[in-house]
Amino acid sequence: MRVLGVSAHFHTAAAALVDNGTVVGAAAEERFTRVKHDPGFPERSIRWLLEERGLRGADLDAVVFYEQPHVKFTRVLASTLSTFPKHHRSFGSAMKRWLGDRLWTTNKLSRLLDVHPDRVGVVVHHRSHAAQAFVGSGFDESAILTLDGVGEWDTTGLGRGRISDGTLDLEILETHRYPDSLGLFYAAFTTFLGFRANSEECSTMALATFGEPKYASVVRQILKVGTDGSYRFDNSWFDFVSLGQAPFTRKLIAALGPPRVPGTPLPFESFRVPGSDTIAPTEDHQRYADIAASAQLVLEEAVLGLANRAARLTGSKRLCLSGGVALNCVATARLLHETPFEDIWIPPDPGDGGAALGAVQHVLGENGLLGPACRSIGPYLGRSYDPGPTLDMLTHMGPGSWSAYRQPGLPPAAPYTLSVERLGDDDDGLVSRVVDDLLAGRIVGWFQGGFEFGPRALGNRSLLAHPARVETALKLSTRVKARAPFRPYAFSIAEADALRAFPQWADGIPYMARWMQVVVPVSEAVHDQVRATLHIDGTTRPQVVSPADNPLYHKLLVAFGQHTGLAALLNTSFNARGEPIVSSPDEALMVFARTDLDTLVLGDAVLRKVYS
Ligand SMILES: [Fe+2]
Repeated sequence: MRVLGVSAHFHTAAAALVDNGTVVGAAAEERFTRVKHDPGFPERSIRWLLEERGLRGADLDAVVFYEQPHVKFTRVLASTLSTFPKHHRSFGSAMKRWLGDRLWTTNKLSRLLDVHPDRVGVVVHHRSHAAQAFVGSGFDESAILTLDGVGEWDTTGLGRGRISDGTLDLEILETHRYPDSLGLFYAAFTTFLGFRANSEECSTMALATFGEPKYASVVRQILKVGTDGSYRFDNSWFDFVSLGQAPFTRKLIAALGPPRVPGTPLPFESFRVPGSDTIAPTEDHQRYADIAASAQLVLEEAVLGLANRAARLTGSKRLCLSGGVALNCVATARLLHETPFEDIWIPPDPGDGGAALGAVQHVLGENGLLGPACRSIGPYLGRSYDPGPTLDMLTHMGPGSWSAYRQPGLPPAAPYTLSVERLGDDDDGLVSRVVDDLLAGRIVGWFQGGFEFGPRALGNRSLLAHPARVETALKLSTRVKARAPFRPYAFSIAEADALRAFPQWADGIPYMARWMQVVVPVSEAVHDQVRATLHIDGTTRPQVVSPADNPLYHKLLVAFGQHTGLAALLNTSFNARGEPIVSSPDEALMVFARTDLDTLVLGDAVLRKVYS
């Protein structure tokens, strides 16, 4: 059975294709359109997936959309009308969007793909999330929590999944409905703190580390978490219809003070260069951090309450999570120690993009077709590229012509010439050259295989650096990523060395550590070796890499560890500021040309800037 899954029109549009039990691929549309979190329609992702298999739309047995557009439309209609005439303008634009396009998504899929309308279906949004959370875990049975902004009406799902003989039995036991929403609650505070809702929630989480939860009593009035694990959101404090602009009321500002103006400096630093001058945060800056800490704490209380409720209602020892809130890796870390669950699984892409694959898994589960390949899914599902044409292009254009492409806002580049070396099948030679560069303090763009499906760079589209060299991390922040200094980096570590950094995991490394989904304290014994990747509180969000997960990346980590004593590397996503992670070799080359990235590895080719 060939099934194409599609998510579109809210957060991250994506498509996924399974053909006869094999996951052909999955990709977020942003990787092709280069629009971060592109919420549009994943036409290019769909085209790539069909081309990858040499298929036409008519060859598909089913196309499935990740939510019910008609039901969602009733919620949009009801929520905007309930505030009339306050939001008459946004009502007009919402109706234009919905009546012009979104309401007819299944018709559009049928037309675009030339698939009979009978073969185009929908899955309830939180059932797509539930299948996405559970099926890839490999568990035969598990409790399930789905936590997001909002689907049709539901914002939270608590349920249980079972799989036997390839058939999925998915029971949703309880739901919370709009406007009770943990995702919208956190997104609203993200907007209050001057970051973009549904995009920069990780900045709120990072800022929280610099604060104390001094406003927790106010926030607990906004999100009331019951002792039974239920929660209620009081929407007299926020106005979700204008989420993304200014969703806060006078009542909220009276209690918390004015919101932060977007783009204004936040002088907190996750790491410091010894001897450098630092600007002391003002009272207002500290207030923002304290508000972030308060929102984070109350979110954690709600997530813990729900997880413990799920444990009571299902009796399961396993928990699978999905929805955008599952990306809050400080909250998910607490699940490890403050719930009865022994195994916790989050898919590599727990958000709306991943729900495209979840919708496919749901359909296959209904038809008893969940084979082993659908039950064990890693993150490397995106398109692979041959770097050959990009390398050929280099012979026609030299670095002399690159200065015009310099990333705006970065200081001028030092003069350099370019060296290019191809290693063919000599992986050891490739790894040894990259290790030499990393030891020398160079920043390396590492581009291999298919790109990751999900928000994290996990060794196929990564920027790598020496994890102990703070000055290199500072260069990465200021001359490559142009990134806020309060946001920490993280490291990848080879499985064999993981217990030295995380001795608390002696009884077993959690699944969440495979895809950078959990924030944990790092053993002081290795602090000096990973100094540049530690957050201010001595934590990190690690990726524990096994040879099976990513053989070449694992080899690189081990080779680096032979020189430094710890097989760990600073790993951050391969992108320039405000852009999606790179997909193709051309895009990787452009970041290399526009920033102070020192070395670029494109498959077997090593490109180096040789400074004069
Ligand atoms: Fe969702």
